Amino acid sequence: MKLILFTLLTLGCQAFLTSPANAASEDCSRCVVVYGDTRTNHAVHKKVVALIMARKPEAVFHIGDMVDDGRVAAQWDKFNEITGELRKKARFYPARGNHEQLSPDYFKVFGLKDWTPWYSTDLHGIHFIVLDSETPFWKGTAQYKWLVNDLKKAVASPENKFLAVMMHRPPYSTSEHGTIDAPVVAETLVPLFEEYGVVAGHDHNYERSFKNGIFYVVAGSGGAPLYAQVSSSTISQVYAKKYNYLTISLSSGAIKAEVFDDSDTPIDAFEITPKPRKPAK
Ligand SMILES: [Fe+2]
Repeated sequence: MKLILFTLLTLGCQAFLTSPANAASEDCSRCVVVYGDTRTNHAVHKKVVALIMARKPEAVFHIGDMVDDGRVAAQWDKFNEITGELRKKARFYPARGNHEQLSPDYFKVFGLKDWTPWYSTDLHGIHFIVLDSETPFWKGTAQYKWLVNDLKKAVASPENKFLAVMMHRPPYSTSEHGTIDAPVVAETLVPLFEEYGVVAGHDHNYERSFKNGIFYVVAGSGGAPLYAQVSSSTISQVYAKKYNYLTISLSSGAIKAEVFDDSDTPIDAFEITPKPRKPAK
């Protein structure tokens, strides 16, 4: 299962929905790709990775559940075999999923020497925060304190026009995990996301929701079994039971997001422009 949360940090944004692009596999050398939940179907994972590589992205975020059981070394070998070339050509940022099973191999595979599963990075005016939904993240925890501090610093920086948060378990989903994990994430983190401005996975489908100025995107299947929509929500705008990956590009001050299936057929597209931000507290 996997999830991407894509929120904007600018305390309010203007969103424009655009028609999905027609051209597939366009070069997006200044793009960031988000995908996840690769787990078991290696043929689909290889296909999705080939499509991502054809776009030549600058960076790739994998939002968790890379393998089916992170304690099994052979599964990491397979993951490395499928993603090896991609990880040589693009910066690769992982977010841990539940199927990584808290295995130390996760840190070894990605060379995370300090064993900290949450971090942030800046790229083309977007501040990307990667949270670890497998470590406690509620108020008072080390991760929560780090997040608040990182958000404050990000908002204070004139370089950051947008804020994107990546994590495995989404706060909003009308798929299988929508009533299990989502309420906890929403109750704890959404107030912060709304204050500061957020993409997530875990469910194996594509879904875009929009609430209080923030897009919540589940881009959760690069090879894991697909999930059907099992409930409805007034904030859910697009749902597709399809393998998928998402591209994010920043041009002319706006974020352009496009989503494609495993045949590179467009599923969704939307654009986000920033509003003037409030001063940092
Ligand atoms: Fe998951």
